[in-house]
Amino acid sequence: MHGQSDRCSVPLTFHPPRFMITSRARRRSIALTATGACLLALGFHTGAGSASGQGAPNDAHDGDALGQQDVILVTGSTSGLGNEVARRLAATGAHVIVHGRNQERGMALVREIEESGVGSASFYAADLASLAEVRSLARTVLENYDRLDVLVNNAGIGSARDGRQESRDGHELVFQVNYLSHFLLTELLLPRIVESAPARIVNVASAAQSPIDFDDVMLEEEGAIGRAYGQSKLAQILHAFDLAEALAGTGVVVNALHPATFMDTGMVRQAGVEPRATVDEGADAVMQLIVEPVESGQYFNGLEPARANTQAYDEDAREKLRSLSRKLVGLGPPEG
Ligand SMILES: NC(=O)c1ccc[n+]([C@@H]2O[C@H](COP(=O)([O-])OP(=O)(O)OC[C@H]3O[C@@H](n4cnc5c(N)ncnc54)[C@H](OP(=O)(O)O)[C@@H]3O)[C@@H](O)[C@H]2O)c1
Repeated sequence: MHGQSDRCSVPLTFHPPRFMITSRARRRSIALTATGACLLALGFHTGAGSASGQGAPNDAHDGDALGQQDVILVTGSTSGLGNEVARRLAATGAHVIVHGRNQERGMALVREIEESGVGSASFYAADLASLAEVRSLARTVLENYDRLDVLVNNAGIGSARDGRQESRDGHELVFQVNYLSHFLLTELLLPRIVESAPARIVNVASAAQSPIDFDDVMLEEEGAIGRAYGQSKLAQILHAFDLAEALAGTGVVVNALHPATFMDTGMVRQAGVEPRATVDEGADAVMQLIVEPVESGQYFNGLEPARANTQAYDEDAREKLRSLSRKLVGLGPPEG
C-alpha cells in the first residue's frame, strides 16, 4: 500500500515500478463493493448494466467473476480522443490504464478519475518510438494486472510534415508509432486478453488509407513519405482483420475504425486544419466498439460498418504484413 505522495510521483521512465499503480492497491482480482462494481457493458458481458450506468452493482456479469473490475488500456490517452475515451470508460467503473509520454497530462487525468469516485486509473509512460519501451510497458502491465478486458490501440501521430524520420529502432517513424508498436504491444498482451475474454481490441485507424508497398514499407523512395500516415492506418486495419480471424472462437472481438473526420484535437490543430468534428463524436464511435454487441473483424466509419481499402481484404497482404511485423519486432515465426 502506498501513500498519497507515491500516487503522484510518476517518473518519466518507460518502466514504471509497481508503486506507480495509482489506485488504492494493485488491481489483482479486486472484489468491488456496491459503489465500485463493474459497470462496463461489453454487450454480452452484462445484463441490465450499461456503459453509462453509474454506481449500481452489476448482478448479471456473465462469463466473468462477479465483482471484478474491468481493466482497460487506452494508448495515447494523455490527450485528444484517447483522453475522452479513458474518461468515459472510468465513468463506467472500470480501471483505466492511461498511457502516453506526457506525465503531467497523464497524471492530471488519473487524478481527475480518482477524485470522481467512480472507476480508477493509473498512468504509464512509454514512447512508442522505441520497441524497448513497448516491451517494458507490456511487461509492467502483465506484472501488475491479472486481467485485461479491453485494449484500445489509439496513440498516434499525424503525417510526416517534417519529412522522413526514423524511430529509435531505425524504422520509419509514423509506421512504428501508429502501427508496429501497437502490433508488438498487442502480441505481448494477447495471452492476458484471451484469458480475460469476453474481451475487446479496438484499433483506432482512419479513413486516410494508403496501400502498403511491400517493396518500400519504410518509405525510402522519393516522394513516398507522403503516404506515411495512410500506410500506417491501413496497416492497423489489416492487423485488426488478421487478429479477428486468428482469435475467432476465443471471445475476443477485434475491430478497427475511423472515429470521425478532423476532430478538434492536437493532431488536427498541428496540421493546421480547421476541426470539423468534436472529440465526442469520435469517442461515441470508439465506445460503440467497446460496449455494444458487434461482430469481430469489421471496419467502421464512425458508427457505421464500412468498407476499408481493398488491401485490407487481401489475405496475401495480411500474411506479408504479419510476417514482416514479427520480423521487425523480433518475435520470430508464430507457433503452430
Ligand atoms: N483527430 C482526428 O480527426 C482523427 C481522425 C481519424 C483518426 N484519428 C486517430 O485517432 C487517434 C488519436 O488521435 P488524436 O486526434 O486524439 O490525437 P492527439 O490529440 O494528438 O493524441 C495523440 C495521443 O497519442 C500519444 N502519442 C503520440 N505519439 C506517441 C508516442 N511516440 N508514444 C506514445 N504515445 C504517443 C499522445 O501522447 P503524448 O502527447 O503524451 O505523447 C496522445 O495521447 C490517432 O490514432 C489518430 O490517427 C484521429
